[in-house]
Amino acid sequence: MRKERWLGIFALAFIITITTKECFGQSESLLRVGKSINVFIRYGYLSISMKVISYNDTERWIFKEPTRNIFQGLSVLETAENNPKGGFMGDFHMEFCDNKQQLFQAYFREFQIEDMASPWKAFTDGWHAEITAKKLGINSSYIIGDYSYVLVRVSRFRERARLQRPIPPNQLIDPSVAAKINNVTDGDTVSVLEFMKKFGTHYINSYVTGNSLYQVFVFNKRNYGHIKERLKSRGVLSLSKSDLYNFFAPWFAEHLGSVRCSSGNSTVERWAQRKLKLSYYLFTYNSLLKLHGSSSLLKALDELLGNEAILQLELKSLKVAFKDPDKRKWYEIVLDNTIKLWEVNMS
Ligand SMILES: *[C@@H]1O[C@H](CO)[C@@H](O)[C@H](O)[C@H]1NC(C)=O
Ligand SMILES: *[C@@H]1O[C@H](CO)[C@@H](O)[C@H](O)[C@H]1NC(C)=O
Ligand SMILES: *[C@@H]1O[C@H](CO)[C@@H](O)[C@H](O)[C@H]1NC(C)=O
Ligand SMILES: *[C@@H]1O[C@H](CO)[C@@H](O)[C@H](O)[C@H]1NC(C)=O
Repeated sequence: MRKERWLGIFALAFIITITTKECFGQSESLLRVGKSINVFIRYGYLSISMKVISYNDTERWIFKEPTRNIFQGLSVLETAENNPKGGFMGDFHMEFCDNKQQLFQAYFREFQIEDMASPWKAFTDGWHAEITAKKLGINSSYIIGDYSYVLVRVSRFRERARLQRPIPPNQLIDPSVAAKINNVTDGDTVSVLEFMKKFGTHYINSYVTGNSLYQVFVFNKRNYGHIKERLKSRGVLSLSKSDLYNFFAPWFAEHLGSVRCSSGNSTVERWAQRKLKLSYYLFTYNSLLKLHGSSSLLKALDELLGNEAILQLELKSLKVAFKDPDKRKWYEIVLDNTIKLWEVNMS
């Protein structure tokens, strides 16, 4: 799979605030750096509680996964991405996916869960074909059949947050958590599983929120091979505008997905339907590629894509909470085994 960014107008205006968050809530559901979550409770269905790919906008929450405070006195760096110059602030990219698994992987590329080799599965393993099709904006027959895909995506970043520095071994731990850590015994699986159940498996190291538009182009193997061959020699940047129109058009692709919005915002999707129409020969169709090089459309989109979805998320293992090297190692082993169990059981 290859990924190329061929348009990325960045006009960053950083507003940096360094805050030391010391709250001791029991269980909240806010997206906050440093807070912990248990990735196993909704493994395979994480987008139920995190808005990453939604097909309706009936609910406005971005994140409703329960979280806990584990650490105390962390420094968090938060930046808002404003756009004083009136261009598009974000990222436009296309990703070539040989099969369905690579398509999932592409959509969730910016989602990392430490020690999990296939983090996208934590979001997608629970989807059946109909749900998958609805989320990706394509007909389910193209999920069941043997096809290749190109994911085109335009992301508008709104907020970034991350820990200012990696959590050091001597980081202060919430006293109630520290007591439980004392009770975790090297070699005792149940003690670790109980810890995870109560406090989680990972903590949020960084995230980016905003919104994006995306479109899935479905190809048969032959035509897909043809585009890939072209790109292998010269790369996406060398594709001319007419190449883009020819390859990503109804006469070459098997199926053009609808232009979908990550948060499921129907206002934005209707805008896309009106504004991203292309007419060629006898064909009229919607294509996200119409944005390529169109500063007026990008400018409009810059405002339309609000702060409604999670675009990037990095979760790190709570092993860092264990100061004793043997306990930490044991935590890693149990986490690793549990991940493998889930991956096997879900597929
Ligand atoms: C909207 O989507 C959520 C899941 O993302 C689902 O639970 C809900 O039933 C949907 N609502 C409608 C009206 O389709
Ligand atoms: C999906 O495609 C099949 C045939 O390829 C068609 O019969 C069906 O109506 C389509 N479904 C939708 C929801 O477009
Ligand atoms: C630690 O384990 C002991 C013995 O199993 C138990 O009595 C105690 O309540 C536990 N402490 C915590 C904080 O769970
Ligand atoms: C959808 O996006 C539009 C344009 O940015 C915004 O005005 C509206 O509030 C959004 N709707 C929802 C349900 O978030």
